[in-house]
Amino acid sequence: MSPSFDVLIIGSGASGLSLALRLADHCRVAVVSKVALSEGSTIYAQGGISAVLDARDSVESHIQDTLVAGAGLCDPEIVRLVVERGKTSIDWLQQRGVPFTEVENDQGASELHLTREGGHTHRRVVHAADATGRAVETSLERHARAHPNIQLFEHHNTIDLITTRKLGDASDQRVVGAYVLDTRRQRVLTFRARLVALATGGASKVYLYTSNPDVCTGDGIAMAWRAGARVMNMEFIQFHPTCLFHPESRSFLISEAVRGEGGRLLLPDGSPFLSRFDPRAELAPRDIVARAIDYEMKRLGIDCVYLDITHKPADFVRSHFPTIYAHCLSLNIDITRSPIPVVPAAHYTCGGVATDRHARTDIPGLYAIGEVACTGLHGANRMASNSLLECLVFAEQAAHHMLAALPATQPPAELPAWDESRVTDSDEEVVVAHNWDEVRRFMWDYVGIVRTNKRLERALRRVELLKQEISDYYGHFRVTSDLLELRNLVIVAELIIRSALARHESRGLHFTLDHPKPDDTHAPLNTVLRPSDFAGREG
Ligand code: FAD
Ligand code: SIN
Repeated sequence: MSPSFDVLIIGSGASGLSLALRLADHCRVAVVSKVALSEGSTIYAQGGISAVLDARDSVESHIQDTLVAGAGLCDPEIVRLVVERGKTSIDWLQQRGVPFTEVENDQGASELHLTREGGHTHRRVVHAADATGRAVETSLERHARAHPNIQLFEHHNTIDLITTRKLGDASDQRVVGAYVLDTRRQRVLTFRARLVALATGGASKVYLYTSNPDVCTGDGIAMAWRAGARVMNMEFIQFHPTCLFHPESRSFLISEAVRGEGGRLLLPDGSPFLSRFDPRAELAPRDIVARAIDYEMKRLGIDCVYLDITHKPADFVRSHFPTIYAHCLSLNIDITRSPIPVVPAAHYTCGGVATDRHARTDIPGLYAIGEVACTGLHGANRMASNSLLECLVFAEQAAHHMLAALPATQPPAELPAWDESRVTDSDEEVVVAHNWDEVRRFMWDYVGIVRTNKRLERALRRVELLKQEISDYYGHFRVTSDLLELRNLVIVAELIIRSALARHESRGLHFTLDHPKPDDTHAPLNTVLRPSDFAGREG
């Protein structure tokens, strides 16, 4: 018999583990994780979690800032739902032992220190120095490992969802489990579940340069798409303006909080430049800052720009940014004395699997939470530190809905085992490695910060060829993690390109030289892709 659970959660970042902990007192939960439990974007999160805690701040102001950053595409009801839960989400984490940074207030009492980031008009980012994600992930992991109702499957790479329709029942469509590759034993397991949640994170590994860890290959988006779910707003890929530029350190982020605490961006000659692009200068939303850097790098033919915090006292810098300070020092950059070389890199997938306010996807029994989902919170551009909050709030939403749905949901009967009768071991692994590099490079070159129709069409032709090649390969050879990820990456690449081609305007993170302005002749529209008819538009 294949293992059977009440809820199968795919992914173990902030969203997956929060959901598991919210469910586990009431039902049996399995958490499947591609590599070690803690590996994912969550543990690398630096800046913090946005929440209205200061008496001078307000929920209305946080809502307004989120709507402005989202450039007309946020769902206002979802924004309110998330923002109103800021304080209770932070309380929930503190009850689980997350050690947020505190300061002494005027009355001598301790309170949470709030930092500031781009787009926020108030200090409202709760943090644990500059390693907030590590503090969150390790606390959640400790609780998940100790809970008797949570079974953890590390080094298990989910291949595909199993739906009743895939099993041949045309009258019914619901998710009933998943095929999962145990990567250490190289065998495929069948998991059965009454309900399934995707918590697989984002897809920024589809770009050559990214702040994301290796697991962020968009698996959940590709799996949901193959299972028949709608995918929304995939053209809005957020490029973080300041990733460290150093040959020995790829993917290391320099938190936006450095700018929030006074850091300035400079050209190689030491001159500031951001106020030429936006009056908010260093604290403008990310799309504007990243585009300004990209523009200056291309105009001057330079490899990077510089982030300077040397004018602040050295003790202040070391105590606020201990992780960034230590990492840069290990590369012989003392950030209290010299500016930090930085470049933009792919950072966050604003689009994803379309979900409702209960985190439900189109497929009955299938939920999506965290970066894999497109809830309507971020619109065309996510505001800094809103995504960990979204993970927490939608884990809670999904848990409530699942617990109400479980009594009426039958456990699935035995499912067919994974069929390997027609495949052999690959004799051409080089094809996988080559195609991995190719996708990531043309996505960077043609589907990056500044787009044109010509570049997007060029990328589409390449992705179509690669998709065919990878599909043939997949049909002939035994699955490996690299092959599974590549198969997912190429689908995500196609979804990004097709969504970008469908948007005939520039808005938020999508900027095209062919239509450099927003089209304000009608209300802004989401880009909705359906597996059945590909592109359609919805308000
Ligand atoms: P993740 O934390 O990425 O976890 C995904 C999980 O899914 C992993 O366990 C992975 O192994 C698993 N998985 C994926 N595919 C499969 C598969 N096929 N089978 C099994 N398991 C699978 N946001 C903020 O709000 N504030 C910040 O300060 C902040 N800083 C950031 C800094 C960095 C460097 C990065 C990269 C992101 C940052 N973000 C920040 C964004 C935020 O961290 C992420 O959006 C958030 O952590 C996503 O959480 P998640 O649970 O959705 O996914
Ligand atoms: C950062 O610390 O700059 C990242 C914050 C975020 O992505 O929300």
